[in-house]
Amino acid sequence: MPELKAKFAELFGSTPELMAQAPGRVNLVGEHVDFLDGFVLPFAIEDVTTVAISRTVQPTIRIASLQQTDEIFVVQMKDLAPMTGEAWTRYPIGVIWAMRDSLDFRGGFDILIDGKVPLGAGLSSSAALECAIATALNHLFNLNISEPVLARIAQKGENVYVGMPCGIMDQSVSIMGRKGSALLLDCRDLSTEHIPFNISPLGLELLVIDTQVHHALVDGGYAERRASCEKAVAVLGITSLRDISVADFVARKSELDETTYIRAFHGVTEMQRVLDGVAALKAGDFKEFGQIITASHISLRDNYTVSCPELNVAVDTALSLGALGSRMIGGGYGGSAIALIRADQTENMKKAIASAFAAAGFIAPRFFTSLPSAGAQIVK
Ligand code: GLA
Repeated sequence: MPELKAKFAELFGSTPELMAQAPGRVNLVGEHVDFLDGFVLPFAIEDVTTVAISRTVQPTIRIASLQQTDEIFVVQMKDLAPMTGEAWTRYPIGVIWAMRDSLDFRGGFDILIDGKVPLGAGLSSSAALECAIATALNHLFNLNISEPVLARIAQKGENVYVGMPCGIMDQSVSIMGRKGSALLLDCRDLSTEHIPFNISPLGLELLVIDTQVHHALVDGGYAERRASCEKAVAVLGITSLRDISVADFVARKSELDETTYIRAFHGVTEMQRVLDGVAALKAGDFKEFGQIITASHISLRDNYTVSCPELNVAVDTALSLGALGSRMIGGGYGGSAIALIRADQTENMKKAIASAFAAAGFIAPRFFTSLPSAGAQIVK
C-alpha cells in the first residue's frame, strides 16, 4: 500500500497508525430476504476498499479518497448526526457515529480511502467502505467486537446515519467472508456456515456483468417492497416469512392483497431456494444449482419486480449461450447480474452480451470474474 501511505503523508503530514481492508460481494442466491430474517448465500469478492487511519488530538474527522484526491471533507466530532444528501462520506462517518459510544475518545481521525470495489455496480462498495472503517476502529481501540456485532454496527451506520434501510447481508459477508467459500448466513441470528465454492477445478467461472445502469427509484422501491413483506408478516400473524412453508403461505393467499402476496411470495420461495441451493452445492450438483439461481432471477423479475431491461438482456443472453444459471444480484433496477458458466465460454459470453447490449441500444456493460475471497482484515 505504498501509494496510500504516501498520499496519507502528503495530505495529513503523518504516517497512518493502521490500515484495514474489506471486500465487496456478489450474492449467489437469497435476494431481498436479509431484512426478513431469511437465509442468503453471498461471497466476498477479490476487490477491496482499504482505509488508512490515524487518531488525532483535534476532535475533527478529516477524510479523503484516493479516487477524489482534491477534496478533504472535514467534520467536527461534536457535530456528528445523521445526514441527508448524497455525499459518499456519509458511509464512513456513519460508522464512526455508530461506534462513538464504544470509543471513549476525545480526539478525531484522519482517514484516507482507496476504494477498489467498482462503484455503482451493485457489488456493495458502500458496505466494503463501512466494514473497512469498522474493522480499523475495532483494532485501533482494542475493542474485540465480534464479527456479527461489527456487521450490525456497520449496518446501523447505513440505516440510521445514511438513511438507507438495507439488510445485514452485505456487511456480514464483507466481514465474515472466507476464501474459497460462499457464506450461508442466517440473517435472524447471524450464524454462518462456510459452503465451499471451488468452481475453478471444475472448469467453471462466475461471470459478473455490470450493466452500468442505476435506474432511479432504487431506494424508494427497496423500502416499498420491504414494507410489503413486513405487511404480509403482520397480516398473517407470523413472526417471519421464514416461519411459514411455501405450501402454507400459498394456502393463505386470500388473506393478502395481490401486491402484498406476490412480493412476499418471492420472499418465502427465495428462502427455500437458498436452502435448496446449499443442498445442491453440497451434492456437487452445479446443474441443479444453476437452475435454482435462474429461478431466483425469474422471481425477482416477475414477482418482486426489481429487475430492468439491461439485467434481463444480460441474463437471457447468458442462458441462451448455455450458462448453467444466471440472475440479477443486489437491490435491482441496474447494477450487476451473475452467470455461472464454463470457463472456456467466458470470452464468447462477454462478446455476445456486449453485442446484445449494443443491439438494444444500452450502454456497454463491464465484466468481472471473481472467486470467493477473504473478509475484512488489517493490512500489515
Ligand atoms: C442491497 C441491500 C442488502 C440486500 C440486497 C438485496 O444490497 O444492501 O441488504 O437487501 O440489496 O438482497
